[in-house]
Amino acid sequence: MSVVDTLRDIKERVESELNTLDGSASLENLRVKVLGKKGELTALLKGMGQLAPEERPKVGAQINEVRQWLTARMDEAQARIQAAEREAALKRETIDVTEPRPLPKVGSEHPITLVMNELIECFTGLGFDVMEGPEVELDHYNFELMNLPKNHPARDAQDTFYMDDNIVLRTHTSPMQARAMLTRKPPIRIICPGRVYRADEVDATHSPVFHQMEGLVVDEHVKMSDLRGTLEVFAKKLYGEDVTTRFRPSFFPFTEPSAEVDLTCVNCHGKGCRICKGTGWIEVLGSGMVNPKVLEMCGIDSSKYSGFAFGIGLERIAMQRYGIRDMRLLYEGDARLFGQLR
Ligand code: DAH
Repeated sequence: MSVVDTLRDIKERVESELNTLDGSASLENLRVKVLGKKGELTALLKGMGQLAPEERPKVGAQINEVRQWLTARMDEAQARIQAAEREAALKRETIDVTEPRPLPKVGSEHPITLVMNELIECFTGLGFDVMEGPEVELDHYNFELMNLPKNHPARDAQDTFYMDDNIVLRTHTSPMQARAMLTRKPPIRIICPGRVYRADEVDATHSPVFHQMEGLVVDEHVKMSDLRGTLEVFAKKLYGEDVTTRFRPSFFPFTEPSAEVDLTCVNCHGKGCRICKGTGWIEVLGSGMVNPKVLEMCGIDSSKYSGFAFGIGLERIAMQRYGIRDMRLLYEGDARLFGQLR
């Protein structure tokens, strides 16, 4: 085949292959095959030595012309193919930002935490400090300083987890009263939220671990009316303006006099319903004037100072507020329950 024929043949083949290329890789192969160091056109140039000297310039020029033509065609093809590939990639990688996706599961605060935070907000707003203390407590603070000496019959009311003779899991948050009075000087105004423990059987209304919030105020001239006023504000803040308090005489060794405090049932507004067992009232806390004996044991001069204290059970408030009928649900950590509360 003459050089001219071979050149025409190459042009035709490249022309038709360029039309059927399926990507930049096959274009690159074609380029190497034709224009590369060992390519067909290079072979032609190398073969020029065999031509008669007078033919060489003409043939050389023809080969170069074809080389330029091929290079231009391949560059064109490359631009076209790359544009198409970019287009395809853009289509493939498009994200539909409007496509609905499953909602993420978001956790929520535990009902006890919700109630606790609400109470903290209420009492800090009234000028109370928040104090926290040990759950593993000395018998001395948990009982003795609360005027419950060893063998006092009232100790029986609090079925206790004893670690040894002197160490207990605190049965109430009241030992924090002693810790506050022994480390602070009046005026004292503190609340102490936290976990407490009693050796109770688990059922719908009992758990060996539950939560209380203790409150203590010690100052000059603190009276029962201050206690009433404070708890009245607390009740209204927590449940609304139409809620009121009812004080019933009671007994606690660390307060004198003592009272159990009920709030109007928020479910029936005092008419009587299943939740308040027809009474119209819900019992939420114990309270009283700090027993002067307790003040003295904790280094406070009871002739100068007086105080009031209260202990709020958080479980009952949380259950009532969120309509949880079985206390055990509070401790099982079922996300379906807690996810609903916000
Ligand atoms: N500590 C008591 C209990 O767990 C509750 C209580 C009653 C706390 C009267 C007080 C109080 O501060 O004054 O049953």
